[in-house]
Amino acid sequence: MKKSVVCSAFCALVLVGIAPWAGAQSTETLGRTGKQVYQQICAACHADGVASAPQPGDTKAWAPLIEEGQDILTAHAWVGVRAMPAQGGVPDLTLEEFSKAVAWMASASGADWKDPDAALQHRIRHEAAQRLEQDIRAKQAMKKMLEQD
Ligand code: HEC
Repeated sequence: MKKSVVCSAFCALVLVGIAPWAGAQSTETLGRTGKQVYQQICAACHADGVASAPQPGDTKAWAPLIEEGQDILTAHAWVGVRAMPAQGGVPDLTLEEFSKAVAWMASASGADWKDPDAALQHRIRHEAAQRLEQDIRAKQAMKKMLEQD
C-alpha cells in the first residue's frame, strides 16, 4: 500500500515534469532555424563526433558528403544511414526542419547550402521515398528468408 502511494506520487511528478516539455516540443518545431535544430538535436552527437558523426567545421569529413548533393545527402540522412538514426532520432521532427539543419551543418563545413525551397524539398522527399522503398524491399527479403525455415 505504502509502496504504491510512493509510486503514484513519483509517477505524477514525472508526468508533471514531462507534459509541458512534450507540449513545448511540438509548438517549437514550427519555426526553428537550421542552427537551432542543430543545437537542440543534432549537436548531441555531431558536436563531439560521437560514433564518428561528422562535426560541423570538419571540412575534410564533409567534402565527400557535400559532393553527394544537398537533395541526396539530406534524404539519406533523414531515412537513416549506418550509425545515423532516422529523423535524427526524433520522430516528430519535420523533414523541413531536418533539411535546414543539414544545410546549416554543410554550410559550416565548406558548402553554400540554403534552406531548401519548395522545388528542392520536393526532390528530397522523392529521394527519401525511393531510399525507403529500397530499405523496405531489403527487409521483406529478410522476412521471407525467416519464413522459409
Ligand atoms: C544519436 C546520434 C546522432 C544524432 C542525434 C544525429 N546524428 Fe547525424 N550522424 C550520426 C552518426 C554516428 C553519423 C555517421 C554515420 C556513419 O557514417 O556511420 C551521422 C551522419 C550524419 C550525416 C551524414 C550522412 C551520410 O550520408 O554519411 C548527416 C547529413 C547527418 N548525420 C545529419 C544530422 C542532423 C541534421 C541531425 C539532427 C537533426 C543529426 N544528424 C542528428 C549520429 C547522429
